[in-house]
Amino acid sequence: MAKLYVQEKKKKSHIQPEVYGHFSEHLGRGIYGGIFVGEDSEIPNVKGMRKDVVDALKELRVPVLRWPGGCFADEYHWMDGIGPKEGRKKMVNTHWGGVVEDNSFGTHEYFELCEQLGCKTYINGNVGSGTVREMSEWVEYMTFPGVSPMADLRCKNGREEAWKVDYFGVGNENWGCGGNMMPEYYGNLYRRYQTYVRDYKAGEHIRKIACGPNVDDYQWTEDLLRVCFARNDHGYMDGLSLHYYVVPHDWKHKGSATRFTGAEWYLTLHKALYMEELIERHGAIMDRFDPKKKVGMMVDEWGAWFDVEPGTNPGFLYQQSTMRDALVAAVTLNIFNKHSDRVKMACIAQMVNVLQSVILTEGERMLKTPTYHIFHMYRHHQDADLLESWMEGVETVGSGEDQVPCLQESVSVDQNGIMTVTVANLSLERTESLEIVFTESTPELVEARILTGAMNAMNTFEEPDQVREQAFEGVAISGRQASLTIPPCAVVSLRLQ
Ligand code: AHR
Repeated sequence: MAKLYVQEKKKKSHIQPEVYGHFSEHLGRGIYGGIFVGEDSEIPNVKGMRKDVVDALKELRVPVLRWPGGCFADEYHWMDGIGPKEGRKKMVNTHWGGVVEDNSFGTHEYFELCEQLGCKTYINGNVGSGTVREMSEWVEYMTFPGVSPMADLRCKNGREEAWKVDYFGVGNENWGCGGNMMPEYYGNLYRRYQTYVRDYKAGEHIRKIACGPNVDDYQWTEDLLRVCFARNDHGYMDGLSLHYYVVPHDWKHKGSATRFTGAEWYLTLHKALYMEELIERHGAIMDRFDPKKKVGMMVDEWGAWFDVEPGTNPGFLYQQSTMRDALVAAVTLNIFNKHSDRVKMACIAQMVNVLQSVILTEGERMLKTPTYHIFHMYRHHQDADLLESWMEGVETVGSGEDQVPCLQESVSVDQNGIMTVTVANLSLERTESLEIVFTESTPELVEARILTGAMNAMNTFEEPDQVREQAFEGVAISGRQASLTIPPCAVVSLRLQ
């Protein structure tokens, strides 16, 4: 039997709510149709935002939303997306399907969405094809509280009060779609562009995020930080991004989202667990430049990336989501929790209708994916403190190179003293007995939930509740110990006090 030890008094680091963040790009039906339908739509909406989608997202306590891209960010010219809608300039979204972008969702609409969600704001600026002036004026437009040319323009467009920009990304993937730059070159551009991302409002610091590495490009991290930290000890940044997608096979044939074998299940989870090595190795480089961990690692794009749903536009990246996605999310979020001393934000790609979404829509219909339920079960980790925990006696499952631990966990405690334990059973066959040993207290069970199903179980528009979170009855508590039996292919969350 596997054992999980918890040291309830050993708080290791704080789990910033932003670790449970989201990303939404002008890509396929991610925004248009999925979130924003316009005020004249027959789909019930509030100021153009789908009511069903916003209501479902609110239940997740979305902490932050990154926008407008992605690769789109380095082609986006914010002035095209302000002012009367009929006058907004159209553009071709060359990255994503070559469709016409009418800019009806722009800066004002983004802030409206964040207000409805009650989340923090994360704007990604354009370094690849934009000027310093353009970026600087966007920041002025959004945040300048007094009289200035851009603040006046904002007022003219109907918004008097300055908004709050919590995070600002200075470019996206500038090693690739954001300009194919070398780290030294981008590093110097970063130093320059970020200078003009000014804090206009007293007490409101815009946290600046530099474009970090792609997957295991440790040289990028090293070279970029060397340039940014030269002649100063803060690197001019509050965060460094990291992008990592779980692609089962290769970029040309990634693998089907819904039709896969047991071997592909373990291959995918093995790749999901690789996130830990990436965080540790990039983190070790960051530690040399920033030993006090003032700069957050912002994993602002992560998730599973499969072949698009057959028959859909390849440029729209629309994929279904199964229990395999739920396990990818569960183990990844456990890893983020365990590294919350360095990981200060993470944004799943992408919130609605794109890649590993939490919500899918089709016309007026909407469904919650298995990944949605994981975010819901894990929401209590937000703003909690990570506790020391470790497992013993965990079997290894899978085959060949794709061996994974059968069980994986993280544990936190919130401000009210309620502990959240989240445990994933990665096995397709093994029902696992687990004994949790609380080393310092005798807690009582407050709530137990489970998400389980066949490996490729999914929610469809015809059957939207095939996979859903349910009460979990199989927990017995006695003194300092809790015993539970976790079925294969399942994620359990316990709340104890
Ligand atoms: O999320 C889809 C794309 O993946 C983003 O636009 C880009 O940043 C990444 O390569």
